[in-house]
Amino acid sequence: MSELTLKNVGMRYGDTVVLERLNLILDSGTFCAVVGASGAGKSTFLKLLLSELQPTEGSITLGGRPLPQEPGPERGVVYQRYSVFPHLTALENICFGLERTQGNALFGRTWGAKHRVLRTEARDLLEAVGLTAAADRYPGALSGGMQQRLALAQTLALKPELLLLDEPFGALDPGNKQTAHALLKQLWAERGMTVVMVTHDLSEAFTLGTRVLVLDKVREDPHSPERFGASITYDLPVDRSAPLRAASVPPVS
Ligand SMILES: Nc1ncnc2c1ncn2[C@@H]1O[C@H](COP(=O)(O)OP(=O)(O)O)[C@@H](O)[C@H]1O
Ligand SMILES: [Mg+2]
Repeated sequence: MSELTLKNVGMRYGDTVVLERLNLILDSGTFCAVVGASGAGKSTFLKLLLSELQPTEGSITLGGRPLPQEPGPERGVVYQRYSVFPHLTALENICFGLERTQGNALFGRTWGAKHRVLRTEARDLLEAVGLTAAADRYPGALSGGMQQRLALAQTLALKPELLLLDEPFGALDPGNKQTAHALLKQLWAERGMTVVMVTHDLSEAFTLGTRVLVLDKVREDPHSPERFGASITYDLPVDRSAPLRAASVPPVS
C-alpha cells in the first residue's frame, strides 16, 4: 500500500557530501535494517525519511506521493534515548500520543467518554509492551529497557505506516536487548507496518531485518574526505523461511 521509494537521493551539509545516489524501493511491510560505520550517514538517512531534513538531490515518495514536509502520524520515530516525556507517567506518555491523533484538533485533548476509551487503549498498549505494572511511574523510575519499551508503545499509539528507529536498543544490556528484539518483532508482525531500523550492530540487523542495507562510501578522496558521500553498497534480502543450518558439512560417505 505505501511503498517507500528513493530516487537518486543525495544529502550534503554545506560542502560536505554525506549521502549520494541512494536508490531504493521498499515494499510495504518490509523490516529494513540499515547498517554502516559511525559517521556513515545513517541518522541523516532517517532524518530524510522523517522530513526533518530535505534531500539536496533526488526525491522520496511514500505510497507514490512526495513525503509530506511535516511528519504526521503516518511516520513514527524512536531514538536511542530521551524519546519519552520525563514529566508524564508511563500511562500519560501513551495518552499524549493517542491524543495527538484522536483529540480535538485545536487543543489535542479528549474529554469524557472519549477520554476513557483512549485510556483503555493506552493501557492495552502498555500491556503489549509489558509495562502494565509501571503505568503510574515516571520514566526516571524505569530501567533503560523499560523506557525504550515505553517509547515504542508511545510511537505505536500513532499507528504509523512507517516506523523509524535510530539505534533504539544501542544503550541496552544484552538481556533487555533480547526482550526488546522479541517484542519489536512481534509488534511488527502483528501490525504489518514498514520498519526502517538503523543500527551499528550487524547481528541485530540480521536478527530482525527482512532486508539489510549497508551504507558505505564507494569513492574516497584522501585529500578531501567531504567530497564523496555514502551510498547503499549492499542490499541483502534475509530469507526467514529458510531453515537454520550450520555451515554446510559434506555428507559422510
Ligand atoms: N547538521 C549537520 N551539519 C553538518 N554536518 C553534519 C550534520 N549532521 C551530521 N553531520 C555529519 O554528517 C556525517 C554523517 O552523520 P550521521 O548521519 O549522524 O552518521 P551516523 O548516524 O551514521 O553516525 C558525519 O560526518 C557528521 O559529522
Ligand atoms: Mg547516528
